Amino acid sequence: MRSSSKKPFSVNFVLFFRPKRLSIPIPSIFLSDREMKVEVEPQAAAYPAPAALVTAFKPDGSANAMTAAWIANICAIPPALVVGIRDVRYTCELIDQTGCFGVNIPSSKIAPEIDYCGLVSGREHDKIKETGLTIFKGKVVEVPLIEECPINIECRVLQKVKVGSHFAFFGEILKVYYSEEMIGEDNKPDLLLGDIIAYGTRKYYRLKEAIGTYGFSRKED
Ligand SMILES: Cc1cc2nc3c(=O)[nH]c(=O)nc-3n(C[C@H](O)[C@H](O)[C@H](O)COP(=O)(O)O)c2cc1C
Repeated sequence: MRSSSKKPFSVNFVLFFRPKRLSIPIPSIFLSDREMKVEVEPQAAAYPAPAALVTAFKPDGSANAMTAAWIANICAIPPALVVGIRDVRYTCELIDQTGCFGVNIPSSKIAPEIDYCGLVSGREHDKIKETGLTIFKGKVVEVPLIEECPINIECRVLQKVKVGSHFAFFGEILKVYYSEEMIGEDNKPDLLLGDIIAYGTRKYYRLKEAIGTYGFSRKED
């Protein structure tokens, strides 16, 4: 049931667009601002990101978890996200076989487990057994999800696009689960209550405080 020779989704190839050069002269104020910047080689820099665990079932029915920081919400209708996964990862193979995957957003309590799942491959390791993480099954599709993570997302692959070394897996969000402990008094999920980890510049961070709500800059008082 989990493995099928038929590919349940399409594989596309990314189109590279040539950026256009503007013929408008850049005002000198912008040029002097640029002198304050440290320029580096092109690299991943759209941070912070979650340090998520991407989960999928192995053919023997056990679960695998891979750490992924290259992950973002991408669409509202249908609700969808995108994960960048390098072609050699075991997780790529598992998602190809099953056509679905889980995304689990962890709290700082399991930071060592998150790091570990990003260092070894499920090809040689049973990472779930080794970390002691607990699995529950998705309700909509056959995905393993991680109990200890305050946010769990069930996804079905919409599209897979090759972008150089990595595939972008576009996943339709089929169901979301929040741990009760991260639901605030307003009945909405709160990242601080969940103690969600942020990742960037090769470091794991804890969130400090909320400094505004959506649209607060335009509120009257
Ligand atoms: C913090 C962190 C973030 C990572 N993010 C990604 C990512 O977004 N995409 C990716 O392909 N690999 C990423 N990796 C590397 C994989 O998690 C790692 O290669 C893992 O062993 C693959 O597991 P698998 O072979 O069981 O799929 C990350 C590793 C760490 C520690």
